[in-house]
Amino acid sequence: MIEVKNVNFSYTKKPFIQNVSFSVEKGEILGFLGPSGAGKSTLQKILTGLIVTYEGNAIVNGVESRKHDNNFYEHIGVDFEFPSLYEKLTARENLNYFRSLYKKKGSSVDELLKMIGLSNDADKKVSAFSKGMKSRLNFIKALLHNPDILFLDEPTSGLDPTNARIMKDIILEQKKASKTIILTTHNMEDASELCDRVAFIVDGRIKALDTPHNLIMSKGASKVEYSYLNENNLEEKAECLLSDLKNDKKLIHLINTDRIISIHSSEPNLNDIFMDITGRVLC
Ligand SMILES: Nc1ncnc2c1ncn2[C@@H]1O[C@H](COP(=O)(O)OP(=O)(O)O)[C@@H](O)[C@H]1O
Ligand SMILES: [Mg+2]
Repeated sequence: MIEVKNVNFSYTKKPFIQNVSFSVEKGEILGFLGPSGAGKSTLQKILTGLIVTYEGNAIVNGVESRKHDNNFYEHIGVDFEFPSLYEKLTARENLNYFRSLYKKKGSSVDELLKMIGLSNDADKKVSAFSKGMKSRLNFIKALLHNPDILFLDEPTSGLDPTNARIMKDIILEQKKASKTIILTTHNMEDASELCDRVAFIVDGRIKALDTPHNLIMSKGASKVEYSYLNENNLEEKAECLLSDLKNDKKLIHLINTDRIISIHSSEPNLNDIFMDITGRVLC
Protein backbone atom coordinates (compact mmCIF):
# COMPACT_ATOMS: atom_id res chain seq x y z
CA MET A 1 0.00 0.00 0.00
CA ILE A 2 2.95 2.31 0.68
CA GLU A 3 6.33 2.15 -1.07
CA VAL A 4 9.03 4.67 -0.22
CA LYS A 5 12.37 4.61 -2.04
CA ASN A 6 15.41 6.81 -1.45
CA VAL A 7 13.46 9.82 -0.25
CA ASN A 8 15.49 12.95 0.46
CA PHE A 9 14.12 16.29 1.60
CA SER A 10 15.25 19.38 3.43
CA TYR A 11 13.59 22.60 4.63
CA THR A 12 16.97 24.36 4.30
CA LYS A 13 20.19 23.83 2.32
CA LYS A 14 21.41 21.31 4.89
CA PRO A 15 20.30 17.70 4.16
CA PHE A 16 17.57 16.51 6.53
CA ILE A 17 15.48 13.52 5.44
CA GLN A 18 18.11 11.26 3.92
CA ASN A 19 17.76 8.06 1.92
CA VAL A 20 14.56 6.92 3.54
CA SER A 21 13.19 3.67 2.10
CA PHE A 22 10.52 1.31 3.43
CA SER A 23 7.24 -0.28 2.47
CA VAL A 24 4.02 -1.01 4.32
CA GLU A 25 1.69 -3.89 3.47
CA LYS A 26 -2.10 -3.83 3.59
CA GLY A 27 -3.35 -4.39 7.14
CA GLU A 28 -0.02 -3.50 8.70
CA ILE A 29 0.70 -0.87 11.36
CA LEU A 30 4.12 0.73 10.95
CA GLY A 31 5.35 3.02 13.71
CA PHE A 32 7.78 5.92 13.37
CA LEU A 33 9.51 6.06 16.72
CA GLY A 34 11.94 8.85 17.44
CA PRO A 35 12.69 11.87 19.59
CA SER A 36 11.22 15.29 18.98
CA GLY A 37 12.64 16.91 15.84
CA ALA A 38 13.67 13.56 14.28
CA GLY A 39 11.60 14.12 11.14
CA LYS A 40 8.57 11.92 11.87
CA SER A 41 5.96 14.56 11.03
CA THR A 42 7.99 15.68 8.01
CA LEU A 43 7.90 12.12 6.64
CA GLN A 44 4.13 12.00 7.21
CA LYS A 45 3.77 15.31 5.36
CA ILE A 46 5.66 13.84 2.40
CA LEU A 47 3.43 10.75 2.39
CA THR A 48 0.22 12.77 2.65
CA GLY A 49 1.05 15.15 -0.19
CA LEU A 50 1.68 18.24 1.97
CA ILE A 51 5.34 18.39 1.01
CA VAL A 52 5.88 17.85 -2.71
CA THR A 53 9.48 19.01 -3.15
CA TYR A 54 11.07 15.73 -2.02
CA GLU A 55 13.42 13.61 -4.11
CA GLY A 56 12.89 9.89 -4.63
CA ASN A 57 9.62 7.99 -4.58
CA ALA A 58 6.80 8.05 -2.04
CA ILE A 59 4.04 5.93 -3.53
CA VAL A 60 0.82 5.74 -1.53
CA ASN A 61 -2.03 3.58 -2.81
CA GLY A 62 -0.36 3.51 -6.22
CA VAL A 63 0.04 7.31 -6.45
CA GLU A 64 3.34 9.21 -6.29
CA SER A 65 2.36 11.60 -3.53
CA ARG A 66 3.89 14.72 -5.12
CA LYS A 67 1.57 14.14 -8.10
CA HIS A 68 -1.61 13.56 -6.09
CA ASP A 69 -5.02 14.88 -7.05
CA ASN A 70 -8.09 15.30 -4.82
CA ASN A 71 -9.08 11.67 -5.28
CA PHE A 72 -5.92 10.77 -3.31
CA TYR A 73 -7.62 12.03 -0.14
CA GLU A 74 -10.67 9.78 -0.64
CA HIS A 75 -8.40 6.85 0.29
CA ILE A 76 -6.27 8.28 3.06
CA GLY A 77 -7.21 9.64 6.47
CA VAL A 78 -4.87 12.00 8.28
CA ASP A 79 -4.77 12.87 11.98
CA PHE A 80 -2.37 15.81 12.12
CA GLU A 81 -0.20 16.41 15.14
CA PHE A 82 -1.97 19.71 15.79
CA PRO A 83 -5.78 19.66 15.57
CA SER A 84 -7.26 21.37 12.51
CA LEU A 85 -10.84 22.11 13.55
CA TYR A 86 -13.24 25.04 13.34
CA GLU A 87 -13.34 26.45 16.87
CA LYS A 88 -16.61 28.34 16.38
CA LEU A 89 -18.45 25.24 15.19
CA THR A 90 -19.65 22.40 17.40
CA ALA A 91 -18.07 18.94 17.24
CA ARG A 92 -21.03 17.67 15.21
CA GLU A 93 -20.91 20.65 12.83
CA ASN A 94 -17.18 20.13 12.30
CA LEU A 95 -17.66 16.45 11.43
CA ASN A 96 -20.67 17.17 9.20
CA TYR A 97 -18.68 19.80 7.32
CA PHE A 98 -15.59 17.65 6.77
CA ARG A 99 -17.80 14.68 5.87
CA SER A 100 -19.42 16.74 3.10
CA LEU A 101 -15.99 17.11 1.42
CA TYR A 102 -15.74 13.38 0.69
CA LYS A 103 -17.54 11.32 -1.93
CA LYS A 104 -17.03 8.13 0.07
CA LYS A 105 -18.84 8.04 3.44
CA GLY A 106 -18.03 5.85 6.42
CA SER A 107 -19.79 5.56 9.78
CA SER A 108 -22.33 8.24 10.67
CA VAL A 109 -21.23 11.31 12.61
CA ASP A 110 -23.22 10.10 15.62
CA GLU A 111 -21.50 6.71 15.52
CA LEU A 112 -18.07 8.33 15.30
CA LEU A 113 -18.80 10.69 18.20
CA LYS A 114 -19.98 7.73 20.27
CA MET A 115 -16.88 5.68 19.39
CA ILE A 116 -14.58 8.38 20.75
CA GLY A 117 -16.71 9.20 23.80
CA LEU A 118 -17.88 12.65 22.69
CA SER A 119 -21.63 12.01 22.30
CA ASN A 120 -22.48 14.23 25.28
CA ASP A 121 -20.31 17.05 23.96
CA ALA A 122 -21.47 16.79 20.34
CA ASP A 123 -23.28 20.14 20.36
CA LYS A 124 -20.66 22.13 22.25
CA LYS A 125 -18.43 24.55 20.39
CA VAL A 126 -14.91 23.22 19.86
CA SER A 127 -13.53 26.41 21.46
CA ALA A 128 -14.90 25.08 24.77
CA PHE A 129 -13.14 21.71 24.32
CA SER A 130 -10.09 20.65 26.34
CA LYS A 131 -6.87 19.75 24.51
CA GLY A 132 -7.63 16.03 24.88
CA MET A 133 -11.19 16.44 23.53
CA LYS A 134 -9.82 18.30 20.49
CA SER A 135 -7.28 15.52 19.91
CA ARG A 136 -10.05 12.92 20.04
CA LEU A 137 -12.26 14.85 17.64
CA ASN A 138 -9.34 15.43 15.29
CA PHE A 139 -8.55 11.72 15.34
CA ILE A 140 -12.11 10.61 14.57
CA LYS A 141 -12.22 13.15 11.74
CA ALA A 142 -9.62 11.00 9.96
CA LEU A 143 -12.15 8.12 9.83
CA LEU A 144 -15.07 10.07 8.30
CA HIS A 145 -14.68 8.56 4.84
CA ASN A 146 -13.63 5.08 5.99
CA PRO A 147 -10.20 5.41 4.34
CA ASP A 148 -7.98 2.44 3.47
CA ILE A 149 -4.82 4.11 4.76
CA LEU A 150 -4.44 6.10 7.97
CA PHE A 151 -1.65 8.49 8.92
CA LEU A 152 -1.79 9.23 12.63
CA ASP A 153 0.66 11.74 14.05
CA GLU A 154 1.13 11.28 17.81
CA PRO A 155 -2.49 10.11 18.23
CA THR A 156 -2.31 9.38 21.96
CA SER A 157 -0.12 12.32 22.91
CA GLY A 158 -1.53 14.31 25.84
CA LEU A 159 -4.46 11.95 26.46
CA ASP A 160 -5.36 10.53 29.86
CA PRO A 161 -4.94 6.73 30.13
CA THR A 162 -8.67 5.98 29.66
CA ASN A 163 -8.97 8.00 26.47
CA ALA A 164 -5.60 6.76 25.20
CA ARG A 165 -6.97 3.21 25.68
CA ILE A 166 -10.16 4.05 23.73
CA MET A 167 -8.06 5.48 20.92
CA LYS A 168 -5.67 2.53 20.83
CA ASP A 169 -8.63 0.12 20.69
CA ILE A 170 -10.06 2.02 17.71
CA ILE A 171 -6.65 1.85 15.99
CA LEU A 172 -6.55 -1.93 16.57
CA GLU A 173 -10.13 -2.25 15.26
CA GLN A 174 -9.05 -0.41 12.10
CA LYS A 175 -6.18 -2.86 11.68
CA LYS A 176 -8.64 -5.75 12.04
CA ALA A 177 -10.62 -4.16 9.21
CA SER A 178 -7.42 -4.47 7.06
CA LYS A 179 -6.60 -0.78 7.15
CA THR A 180 -2.97 0.17 6.58
CA ILE A 181 -1.66 2.52 9.25
CA ILE A 182 1.43 4.63 9.81
CA LEU A 183 1.59 6.20 13.22
CA THR A 184 4.24 8.37 14.78
CA THR A 185 5.01 8.33 18.45
CA HIS A 186 7.75 8.96 20.93
CA ASN A 187 6.04 6.57 23.33
CA MET A 188 7.67 3.16 23.24
CA GLU A 189 4.78 1.42 25.04
CA ASP A 190 2.36 2.53 22.32
CA ALA A 191 4.85 1.47 19.64
CA SER A 192 5.30 -1.99 21.21
CA GLU A 193 1.58 -2.53 21.67
CA LEU A 194 0.23 -1.23 18.37
CA CYS A 195 2.88 -1.64 15.72
CA ASP A 196 3.67 -4.71 13.63
CA ARG A 197 6.96 -3.05 12.73
CA VAL A 198 8.74 -0.01 14.06
CA ALA A 199 11.18 2.35 12.33
CA PHE A 200 13.66 4.10 14.62
CA ILE A 201 14.03 7.63 13.25
CA VAL A 202 16.78 10.01 14.26
CA ASP A 203 18.08 13.11 12.41
CA GLY A 204 15.96 12.41 9.33
CA ARG A 205 17.19 8.85 8.84
CA ILE A 206 15.83 5.39 9.57
CA LYS A 207 18.35 3.75 11.88
CA ALA A 208 16.53 0.42 12.23
CA LEU A 209 13.27 -1.10 11.05
CA ASP A 210 11.84 -4.39 12.29
CA THR A 211 9.17 -5.94 14.51
CA PRO A 212 9.37 -4.79 18.16
CA HIS A 213 10.22 -8.40 19.06
CA ASN A 214 13.11 -8.65 16.58
CA LEU A 215 14.45 -5.24 17.55
CA ILE A 216 14.51 -6.29 21.17
CA MET A 217 16.04 -9.67 20.35
CA SER A 218 18.68 -8.13 18.06
CA LYS A 219 20.48 -6.77 21.11
CA GLY A 220 18.34 -8.64 23.53
CA ALA A 221 20.52 -10.22 26.11
CA SER A 222 17.81 -11.19 28.59
CA LYS A 223 19.14 -11.09 32.11
CA VAL A 224 18.41 -13.24 35.13
CA GLU A 225 18.64 -11.47 38.45
CA TYR A 226 18.66 -13.42 41.68
CA SER A 227 18.99 -12.79 45.37
CA TYR A 228 20.34 -15.29 47.89
CA LEU A 229 21.56 -15.76 51.45
CA ASN A 230 25.36 -15.60 51.77
CA GLU A 231 27.49 -17.47 54.33
CA ASN A 232 26.65 -14.83 56.94
CA ASN A 233 22.94 -15.26 56.22
CA LEU A 234 22.73 -11.78 54.67
CA GLU A 235 20.83 -11.15 51.45
CA GLU A 236 22.95 -10.49 48.37
CA LYS A 237 22.10 -9.98 44.70
CA ALA A 238 23.70 -11.22 41.52
CA GLU A 239 22.84 -11.48 37.84
CA CYS A 240 23.79 -13.44 34.75
CA LEU A 241 22.67 -13.68 31.13
CA LEU A 242 19.73 -15.98 30.46
CA SER A 243 21.73 -17.63 27.67
CA ASP A 244 24.51 -18.35 30.17
CA LEU A 245 22.35 -19.76 32.96
CA LYS A 246 23.63 -23.32 32.84
CA ASN A 247 27.24 -22.12 33.18
CA ASP A 248 26.61 -20.04 36.30
CA LYS A 249 28.28 -22.31 38.87
CA LYS A 250 27.46 -19.97 41.73
CA LEU A 251 23.75 -20.01 40.89
CA ILE A 252 23.71 -23.79 40.56
CA HIS A 253 25.44 -24.15 43.92
CA LEU A 254 22.95 -21.73 45.55
CA ILE A 255 20.02 -23.70 44.13
CA ASN A 256 21.47 -27.00 45.39
CA THR A 257 22.03 -25.55 48.85
CA ASP A 258 18.59 -23.96 49.09
CA ARG A 259 19.96 -20.45 49.51
CA ILE A 260 18.01 -18.72 46.71
CA ILE A 261 15.47 -16.12 47.86
CA SER A 262 14.21 -14.88 44.48
CA ILE A 263 14.90 -15.19 40.76
CA HIS A 264 13.50 -13.15 37.92
CA SER A 265 14.37 -12.52 34.31
CA SER A 266 14.10 -9.20 32.52
CA GLU A 267 14.20 -8.35 28.82
CA PRO A 268 15.41 -5.01 27.57
CA ASN A 269 12.54 -2.82 26.35
CA LEU A 270 12.33 -0.79 23.13
CA ASN A 271 13.66 2.28 24.98
CA ASP A 272 16.87 0.40 25.87
CA ILE A 273 17.23 -0.85 22.32
CA PHE A 274 16.52 2.59 20.87
CA MET A 275 19.29 4.04 23.01
CA ASP A 276 21.61 1.19 22.11
CA ILE A 277 21.09 1.54 18.35
CA THR A 278 20.78 5.33 18.01
CA GLY A 279 22.65 6.62 21.06
CA ARG A 280 19.66 8.87 21.75
CA VAL A 281 16.82 8.93 24.25
CA LEU A 282 13.16 9.06 23.29
CA CYS A 283 11.67 12.35 24.41
N1 LIG B 1 7.95 24.14 7.94
C1 LIG B 1 9.17 24.00 8.43
N2 LIG B 1 10.18 24.83 8.05
C2 LIG B 1 11.43 24.70 8.53
N3 LIG B 1 11.81 23.73 9.40
C3 LIG B 1 10.86 22.88 9.82
C4 LIG B 1 9.50 22.97 9.36
N4 LIG B 1 8.77 21.98 9.94
C5 LIG B 1 9.64 21.30 10.73
N5 LIG B 1 10.87 21.83 10.65
C6 LIG B 1 12.08 21.34 11.36
O1 LIG B 1 12.33 20.02 10.94
C7 LIG B 1 12.77 19.21 12.03
C8 LIG B 1 11.90 17.98 12.14
O2 LIG B 1 10.60 18.32 12.49
P1 LIG B 1 9.44 17.24 12.57
O3 LIG B 1 9.37 16.48 11.30
O4 LIG B 1 8.22 17.98 12.99
O5 LIG B 1 9.97 16.28 13.73
P2 LIG B 1 9.18 15.24 14.66
O6 LIG B 1 7.79 15.09 14.14
O7 LIG B 1 9.99 13.99 14.60
O8 LIG B 1 9.21 15.85 16.04
C9 LIG B 1 12.74 20.10 13.26
O9 LIG B 1 14.05 20.55 13.49
C10 LIG B 1 11.83 21.23 12.84
O10 LIG B 1 12.19 22.42 13.51
MG1 LIG C 1 6.02 15.49 15.03
